[in-house]
Amino acid sequence: MKLDNSCHVDRIVEVARCPACKSSTWLKREKNIMCCQCEAVFSIQQGSVDFIPNLNKNYKSSHERYIYERALENWGEILHEYELNDVPETYHHIHFVNHFGNRHTLFKGVVLGIGCGSGFDSQWTAQKYPGLLCFGVDLGVNIGGVARRDHSITNLHYMRGDALDLPLENKVVDSIFSYGVFHHTSEPQKCLDEAYRVLKPGGSVCIYLYTNHENNLPKYLGTQVEKFLTNFMAVIPVKIGRMLCWAMSPFILLIFSWPGQLLKKIPSLKKIGGSFPLHWGTTPASIIGDLQDRLCSPVNHRFSRKAFQSLFEKSGFTNLEIVTTTGGHFGYAEKL
Ligand SMILES: C[S@@+](CC[C@H](N)C(=O)[O-])C[C@H]1O[C@@H](n2cnc3c(N)ncnc32)[C@H](O)[C@@H]1O
Repeated sequence: MKLDNSCHVDRIVEVARCPACKSSTWLKREKNIMCCQCEAVFSIQQGSVDFIPNLNKNYKSSHERYIYERALENWGEILHEYELNDVPETYHHIHFVNHFGNRHTLFKGVVLGIGCGSGFDSQWTAQKYPGLLCFGVDLGVNIGGVARRDHSITNLHYMRGDALDLPLENKVVDSIFSYGVFHHTSEPQKCLDEAYRVLKPGGSVCIYLYTNHENNLPKYLGTQVEKFLTNFMAVIPVKIGRMLCWAMSPFILLIFSWPGQLLKKIPSLKKIGGSFPLHWGTTPASIIGDLQDRLCSPVNHRFSRKAFQSLFEKSGFTNLEIVTTTGGHFGYAEKL
């Protein structure tokens, strides 16, 4: 069935900025939109717009190129497809709500999910708050599949775009959410700078990033194992790496998850059990997503609490609140 994409594309061109020349006047056509300034053409895919058609970038270094190519290999198709049919009722935004929701209005006006992945959080937000205008941006090539799944949600629109160079005008967004994305890019600071640029004054961000577990010895040791393994994973195709994660998962359960689970059952040792890497794991399927995220990602920047705080401050954010859990740092901040 041919879907009518016009409502989605109309909303996108209202906020979009050309990644090539930074202009924001568009000519809308049936299959693509064209920048009136530089005539760059971006295709419409199932209601989403692809702002990075072939990642024809001027890479600053071979490392940067590796990160983009690996990110596409890792998440571009596989992860999103794998998750597409399995829509949960709540997803990662619930953590932001639990940590900051009682003190701040997290969802307001125009909402942007950066690195929205399978789109579950964007979908949840748009449906829970029908008065909002929501956008999801991700590098993944099959964002069109996500857009098709959510086609009937008229206040939710998807773009394929880069967190390091958002295809959005300055000051068009009121609330930004990004869960587990910036630490997998070449420059997390640039991602925060971009978030700041597209926010309106008075807008807010909610960001989750990995901690370096500076105060948690078992997890800190886990990150060292992660570092060692990712050196090896980096030189093999992601598909093989993902299979290796499945093969490794019983051992990870045996060494970390099950002992952690056991300790958590003893009241006096509960805290120690909770500090074990992947302590929530019960079966290989329950830890595979996290294992693959940590071992098959192109890069895992990990932050001390101070370094996490400094990311926000350097970009110009104020009223910063940080909650650090055994999983990572959650930050809420505002643009004055
Ligand atoms: C670990 S997944 C998290 C997805 C989603 N936020 C969630 O909570 O499930 C990381 C996501 O970041 C996206 N990503 C990685 N680098 C990106 C970049 N430079 N720009 C936009 N998205 C990026 C990946 O495609 C992937 O969907």
